[in-house]
Amino acid sequence: MVEGTSAPIKIAARGVERHFGADPGTAVHALGPFDLDVAEGEFVCVVGPSGCGKSTFLRIVAGLLRPSKGDIELYAEASSETPVAMVFQDYSIYPWKTVERNVSFGLELRGVSKKEAVERGRHWLERLGLADFAKAYPDTLSGGMRQRVSIARALTVEPEILLMDEPFAALDAQLRQVLQDELLDIWQSEARRTVVFITHSLEEAIVLGDRVVVMSARPGTLVQSVDVPFARPRTPELRARAEFNDFKNELWQLLKGEVEHYMEAVRATGATDGGAR
Ligand SMILES: Nc1ncnc2c1ncn2[C@@H]1O[C@H](COP(=O)(O)OP(=O)(O)OP(=O)(O)O)[C@@H](O)[C@H]1O
Ligand SMILES: [Mg+2]
Repeated sequence: MVEGTSAPIKIAARGVERHFGADPGTAVHALGPFDLDVAEGEFVCVVGPSGCGKSTFLRIVAGLLRPSKGDIELYAEASSETPVAMVFQDYSIYPWKTVERNVSFGLELRGVSKKEAVERGRHWLERLGLADFAKAYPDTLSGGMRQRVSIARALTVEPEILLMDEPFAALDAQLRQVLQDELLDIWQSEARRTVVFITHSLEEAIVLGDRVVVMSARPGTLVQSVDVPFARPRTPELRARAEFNDFKNELWQLLKGEVEHYMEAVRATGATDGGAR
């Protein structure tokens, strides 16, 4: 169980570290030791300075990268077709496939027939306002629509754990808010999956998350994990409440020192990833 909840643990990270490179002159200690438990059905947002190892951690959770030290356990159902799906910042959709086939492709890879996969994807196309674009190719779509395709694709495989790495970072401020609100509504109304969501935006983290995990400057460790004190279902109007701003300031106090460390490292080395080479 995760402290303060009665739900079973879905992700348990213990002392997870990642180093890149073996040469002492260029080796990078990118992450950790980092510990994190995520409960089933919990929406956890992770914030931390640039280069602190957030993406590295998410890639380790996704099984795309091995930890150099420590353990990571995912407690997925044995029957699960797709335990984990990931959404990246840069859309990562196939330009040569239509919207519909981009969305169905994940299921096709798992042996589901094209017809059934397209059928199962249709719901998410509709839910994300993409139904009229089913036969379009990604290069005819705006950034916001492309990111909707990525999200529809991730939801179509019905993952138990959804990993999102700054999915809205490339969008302008208004569009970003629209997509946040859509994701909030989808998650609260029909897809309460376990989510780990990385963002640089505290506002985004508070609107979406049950909990915000603040990481230190590289190598990222846990500074603090803070429960978001706003009841669900939440609505977008939450952003306008004074308590929202107060809480955002509270989180900023935790993060500020870490961002300053990062800035010092940038000034010292001139590298925008906090000195990693
Ligand atoms: N494949 C790699 N080889 C060498 N160094 C790497 C590699 N991947 C990441 N790093 C380094 O590890 C550190 C952590 O990178 P990571 O991308 O996880 O940070 P991040 O917290 O996601 O940063 P951002 O907020 O800018 O996305 C950085 O210093 C980065 O340069
Ligand atoms: Mg990153």
